[in-house]
Amino acid sequence: MKKHVKNNVYWLGKVDWELRKFHGEELSTHNGSTYNSYLIKEEKTVLIDTVWTPFAEEFVDNLAKEVDLDSIDFVIANHGEVDHSGALPVLMKHIPNVPIYCTANGAKSLKGQYHEDWNFQVVKTGDKIDIGNGKELIFVEMRMLHWPDSMATYMTKDNILFSNDAFGQHFANEKLFNDQVDQCNLFNESMKYYANILNPFNPILRKKLDEIISLNLPIDIIATSHGVIWRDNPAQIIEKYSQWANDYQENQITIIYDTMWNGTKTLAEKIAEGIALADSDVTVKIFNIAKSDDNDIITEVFKSKTVVVGSPTVSNSILHSVAGLIHLIKGLKFKNKKAAAFGCYGWSGESVKVISELMSDAGFEVTTEGYRNLWNPDVDEQKAAVEYGKTIAKL
Ligand code: FEO
Repeated sequence: MKKHVKNNVYWLGKVDWELRKFHGEELSTHNGSTYNSYLIKEEKTVLIDTVWTPFAEEFVDNLAKEVDLDSIDFVIANHGEVDHSGALPVLMKHIPNVPIYCTANGAKSLKGQYHEDWNFQVVKTGDKIDIGNGKELIFVEMRMLHWPDSMATYMTKDNILFSNDAFGQHFANEKLFNDQVDQCNLFNESMKYYANILNPFNPILRKKLDEIISLNLPIDIIATSHGVIWRDNPAQIIEKYSQWANDYQENQITIIYDTMWNGTKTLAEKIAEGIALADSDVTVKIFNIAKSDDNDIITEVFKSKTVVVGSPTVSNSILHSVAGLIHLIKGLKFKNKKAAAFGCYGWSGESVKVISELMSDAGFEVTTEGYRNLWNPDVDEQKAAVEYGKTIAKL
């Protein structure tokens, strides 16, 4: 069902309430998602992006109810990933000669995925097309935000920035606009999206935000490709991105661990106790990695100034759940954060050293030798773990 965005611009996407995993099984989406496609009906008829492949037929059927497909003058593919380009193979069967505007990398990506030689019109930043009624679409390359092919499209006069993935959230909602939804959910999902997808590209994002701000384009609406459309003070999400792109942290220390027989779990809780005793202002959170959602933990890591990682020693190393999460953390290229390690052992006791090395390799500043405990911590050792927590709080 089409929804009105502004003047002659309509939303024509898919609300995917059921989605619980994205990028295969990599990214959790507790609140579902949306794939936002936009139909512009000026003198020219323009379609911006489509939807994910499973909804291709449904999308094209709906589109055909709104416009004669043969009347579509231009297709804009802001990004080649299948959640936005997935309906192109079905659509382009109906209109094989209609030009598809995309970046050079966009053409590569679409050809590589669909093996079709569509009428690609390659654009770069500043290129524009006239869509009639005195309005233009201006293209802005958004390289590495978050793929090399990403771009945004700006519509003059209506002052709409079709930003694709940037400023989006995996947040299914029947409401269309940011002022119509639960604000806590909206910002939690926006931050989770940023932390888990965009964080590695912070330096590029900082430059791109400066570039967008320096263009002085009036932006009344940011129409993203996932989640809500920002119409109420759209600058607020740009300001959030400016904060998040600058090695963001809150006054939070997060303890993440896995445990075999609860010795390392006891240490985690005692270290948390020590941190809270030493600093009543700091937020302390504990997550058992094996029992928690990886992407939710990543969002907490994103907010943290210090991350304390625990694992018992097993086979001269650490539990694979802990190793896997550190691998995920490393890929997201966090900066300006400290780390510390802890864990119980019965024999050789390498886990603390292994964690310290891995966290250092992931870009964290590891400033203590960590806390090792032989067997299960007794009362005195639990007191020592509390003292170690106090040390962490003072880092
Ligand atoms: Fe929403 Fe990068 O696709």
